[in-house]
Amino acid sequence: MWTKQALQELIKEKLSDYVFIVVSNREPYIHVQQRGKIAVNRGSGGVITALDPILQSCNGLWVAWGNGDGDKRASGPSGKVAVPPDNPSYTLKRVWLTKQEEIGYYYGFSNEAIWPLCHTAFTRPVFRKEDWESYLKVNEKFADAIAEELQGRKAFVWIQDYHLCMLPKFLKEKLPNQTITAHFWHIPWPSYETFRICPQKREILEGLLANDLLGFHIRYHCNNFLDTVDRELESKIDRERQSIIRGGHETLIRPFPISVDYTDIRQMVQKPVVEDMARQLTEEFGLSGKKVLLGLDRLDYTKGIPERLLAVDRLLELRPELAEKFVFLQMGEISRLHIPRYKQLNDEINMLVEQINWKHSTDTWKPIILIRRHLNYPEPLAFFKLGDVCIVSPLHDGMNLVAKEYVVSSEGGNGMLVLSQFAGASRELTEAVTINPYDREQFAEALYSALTMPEEERRKRMSRMSKTVEENNIYRWAGKMISELLKIEFAE
Ligand code: G6P
Repeated sequence: MWTKQALQELIKEKLSDYVFIVVSNREPYIHVQQRGKIAVNRGSGGVITALDPILQSCNGLWVAWGNGDGDKRASGPSGKVAVPPDNPSYTLKRVWLTKQEEIGYYYGFSNEAIWPLCHTAFTRPVFRKEDWESYLKVNEKFADAIAEELQGRKAFVWIQDYHLCMLPKFLKEKLPNQTITAHFWHIPWPSYETFRICPQKREILEGLLANDLLGFHIRYHCNNFLDTVDRELESKIDRERQSIIRGGHETLIRPFPISVDYTDIRQMVQKPVVEDMARQLTEEFGLSGKKVLLGLDRLDYTKGIPERLLAVDRLLELRPELAEKFVFLQMGEISRLHIPRYKQLNDEINMLVEQINWKHSTDTWKPIILIRRHLNYPEPLAFFKLGDVCIVSPLHDGMNLVAKEYVVSSEGGNGMLVLSQFAGASRELTEAVTINPYDREQFAEALYSALTMPEEERRKRMSRMSKTVEENNIYRWAGKMISELLKIEFAE
């Protein structure tokens, strides 16, 4: 089984002669101003959990956009700062973006063009020429930041996600034969039919094919990518080897399903601090004696939140006897609010919550509690402990780590997972109650069956799913991808 230690050993043994670089849009440590002083927070999410210990053990380099309001003060004009703060062992190098670049690269091309293009959620992508120009410029800035640090040394570069499609190409141009690059695509890759509307489709594919290894969560997305390239670019597709050769360069295409830190969650969830948090939440929201349906998401139109609210509404129409017996607690972290579609989603959610609560509430009870606040780890675990049913209902999702965190947190407890068939996680978490979020009737029935599932069956299913996550944990994801990367040799 892959563990944090096994991964650190692999890195120490195999990577000592090279620089190991991780590049992502979001940074692993963010400096913020707090009452005149600078505080530092660790970023959240699976990538940081897995890659932070790796970089610590190989004295690596992490390059990311510095967007904390204390970042400049903490790292000075070079953008460099040693992290983690309590045990500095690797370098975080920040790339500074102008407001205009943030608008064009992050809000514009990354999140109004590529994000909706890759998620089949029927939100129309917006392609603006000036966003693409910013995107190119920022990707080039990232390449320059890496070149500046390497000074002739060879490096393995692990690039994260859809913000940096052009970085591999710029790196190979600026540093010929000096880098081997792997790129992990954290979101779905759409069918060719969808992708082909993108005006910059060829450039994006050429950017990604400069990589030596390109990873997606599931084989389905790998196949979509192979088909897209096959139909768009002159290249040789080797289906047997799952690779693409173009202009004499080979890119391996592989699935690597991302996951969570099983051991850490299991330990954390049993700690008194999490128990206390759960108790406080029960009191704060009056949950005592009621079943808790739980939703915990970044407020994004791909997450199927309105669909979830409508399913709860339908459940109460079909089973009015459930009134006062449960509460649906939806936690939502505000996200990308400068984009009009996200503002619209927020308004839609507010309106639905108000309408559904008005329709079904009694003198002493309303069915939905909507909370918009940022949760700091381990707060999400306290929520997971409370959830008798956790609803993960994306219209489309690369993986969805909430589903995995929930099954691990509630192992041996009261939980049951309701999971969209359109989340990558549904390929592994096959014992969940599966739903099609577009099918309101089936969704409502699924909620009922999850709420009323016999204890023994529920426990059996949850423990099987938790076992799956234990085996396919976050260190396995990183270990497998790095092992594959290490097989590739530097060109002479
Ligand atoms: C998705 C992306 C990540 C991103 C996260 C949060 O999961 O794949 O790359 O970091 O959303 O979005 P944000 O725009 O806040 O970074």
